[in-house]
Amino acid sequence: MTVREPAPADGMLLEVRRLTHVYRNGEPGEVLAVHDVDLDVASGEAVALIAPSGRGKTTLLRVLAGLEAPSGGHVRVAAYELAGLKPRELDEYRRRVVGYVRQQPESGLWPHLSALRNVQVPMLGDGWTAAERTARAQRLLTAMGIGGRGEMADVLTAGGVSRWFEAGGSHVQAVQSVSFRVAEAELVAVVGRSGAGTTALLSICGGLDRPDQGSLVVAGHDMTSLAGSARDAFLQRSVGWVPQRPRLLPLLTVEENVAMVLRIGGAPDEEALRAAHASLDAIGLRGRAHHRGDELSTSQQRQVALACALVRAPALLIADQPTAHLDFDAAQGVLAILRAAADSGTAVLLATRDPGVTGVADRAFLMEGGALAERRLPW
Ligand SMILES: Nc1ncnc2c1ncn2[C@@H]1O[C@H](COP(=O)(O)OP(=O)(O)OP(=O)(O)O)[C@@H](O)[C@H]1O
Ligand SMILES: [Mg+2]
Repeated sequence: MTVREPAPADGMLLEVRRLTHVYRNGEPGEVLAVHDVDLDVASGEAVALIAPSGRGKTTLLRVLAGLEAPSGGHVRVAAYELAGLKPRELDEYRRRVVGYVRQQPESGLWPHLSALRNVQVPMLGDGWTAAERTARAQRLLTAMGIGGRGEMADVLTAGGVSRWFEAGGSHVQAVQSVSFRVAEAELVAVVGRSGAGTTALLSICGGLDRPDQGSLVVAGHDMTSLAGSARDAFLQRSVGWVPQRPRLLPLLTVEENVAMVLRIGGAPDEEALRAAHASLDAIGLRGRAHHRGDELSTSQQRQVALACALVRAPALLIADQPTAHLDFDAAQGVLAILRAAADSGTAVLLATRDPGVTGVADRAFLMEGGALAERRLPW
């Protein structure tokens, strides 16, 4: 098999030079399956290898996946030179760097396990909690369009949540014994007049505030007992927030604002920027990547705040009045982004004063005086 002459390899994710692979099955059974292959693949690029049966396509892919040691030549994927890897490095490369779908993928599935459990198998032993594994596997199945084949797990479960505030010498019960749940891939809207308690409720659900009474479990974590740095790390990783009055850092560009979310979480600059671009692409704002935060319209700022909330693909996205002060078209754009986030597996919880917003919701609640009641849709 011989592949095209490569372009210059600057910044290439995958770089193959004069790759040769020989299968030695004993005399005289030597098979030259791949010889003199040059290939470059950039990050974000999709490349198809097209050739008749028996020309070495699978062999080449197996070498790139780290399953077959190259007989000759040079193969680099990201920072890994495949020819010189020690067994531990090779193991890490196979587990963390490359995903491989075999020609007969069903041979890798456990017949006695559900689809949801099968997807979790490669995550075992990699430091994920059971709840994180389940949530991630469910999101992946949903993204593949077969989310219904797994069980839809609840991402948020609130039971009898109450919150009192004391202000000016009087007691206000902002949230009154609220019980509800939001499942993966579900968009739930809470509709309430100003002062009904929606922000107070969302603040508790998203971990910014704690209930005075009641239970709250988010992505398998008990939010009433989770504390300190474990709580911070969990919230950073699993909950995306679009606050009622989103604020971008005005002196940073749009892409820097979005990348900042990941850099704070410890991601390397380049990776953070790449993810920021993908997130901005998804909401159609890539063209504004180099604008500063204060050079955007209100609706664009709201969209960037959404990109910031979605860039880590959170299990739960909370959006407080995401369409307030937007004209009809801009509001529809924001709602379409929220719907797409839910369709890709994220649990979305939004608060609004506008019952029209429930048009994109799977379920809706009316909040009045701190209490919540489910309403049948259409509203
Ligand atoms: N930190 C606080 N201290 C005292 N009272 C508060 C506090 N936060 C909220 N409240 C009170 O709780 C009630 C609910 O407030 P909340 O902000 O949740 O309303 P909301 O439904 O979000 O309204 P809006 O639609 O205007 O945003 C109000 O009476 C408010 O004054
Ligand atoms: Mg509010």
